[in-house]
Amino acid sequence: MSYPITARSTLSTILRVIRHPLASFRLIHDEGCAQGGALIKDPDYRERWSSSIAEYVHWYFADKRMMHSISWLGIPTRKMLPDMWVYQEIIHECRPDYIVEIGSLFGGSALFMANVCDMMGHGSIISIDISRENYRVSHPRIVELTGDCASSEIVDQVRSLVQDGSVMVIHDADHTQEAVTRDLALYAQFVTAGQYLIVEDGVVDLYNPLQSRMAHSFPEGGPLPAARRFLKQNAELYELDMTRERFILTSNPRGYLRRKPSLSEAG
Ligand SMILES: C[S@@+](CC[C@H](N)C(=O)[O-])C[C@H]1O[C@@H](n2cnc3c(N)ncnc32)[C@H](O)[C@@H]1O
Repeated sequence: MSYPITARSTLSTILRVIRHPLASFRLIHDEGCAQGGALIKDPDYRERWSSSIAEYVHWYFADKRMMHSISWLGIPTRKMLPDMWVYQEIIHECRPDYIVEIGSLFGGSALFMANVCDMMGHGSIISIDISRENYRVSHPRIVELTGDCASSEIVDQVRSLVQDGSVMVIHDADHTQEAVTRDLALYAQFVTAGQYLIVEDGVVDLYNPLQSRMAHSFPEGGPLPAARRFLKQNAELYELDMTRERFILTSNPRGYLRRKPSLSEAG
């Protein structure tokens, strides 16, 4: 945005945002920051809102008090909040018959998606976890599968449950690169044309190990390199949808993969 604001500069900003949503946000944001904090006039919020996006996201994930405070209808949920909004948008737009969630933990994210499906009157969640020790949810739209997601028993159960339906898959289980690579290879086959394969928590791969303890969590790499490699190897079938990162704040950088529509759907 240029100053003073005129009709012409407003129009040019709108056009830029429509054409390049992510780049435009950075331009506007950076310009605001370049004013040395003068953007915020309230002194308390000048301090409170002074961190960069990188610092904010790091704090969100590294500070356990923050992560452990997030809940959906009282059920702990390990998500970055804008991602939940994006989930709601994807579920509404794509109307999958089945959402396969790999990694239930307490069940907060499964319940959230089941409630979105309730409001639409459509869809079921198949939520997989190797352990039900922490799980707290019971909902008619959720089918729980308990076991190792990489086992043939669980993969076969998913196959028999999703027959003939449209399917979206979310990976939010073991975040090591090796496990994510393995699970994507096993579960991408279920994702139907036009639906999403979401790879959670690649955020851990963004940070510099010299600056961040969080960056030490996966020394051999985590979800981000696994998702990148998957996309490279499956470029004919999948595409990266960066519009799902338009809020900038996300736990899933380069993690919103969309199976391309079939030729008949693409028109
Ligand atoms: C990050 S938590 C899931 C968080 C949940 N989706 C949410 O947003 O609240 C990861 C879960 O994956 C499960 N998990 C890890 N490895 C697994 C495996 N091989 N098969 C199935 N579940 C696994 C863990 O038991 C844990 O509950």
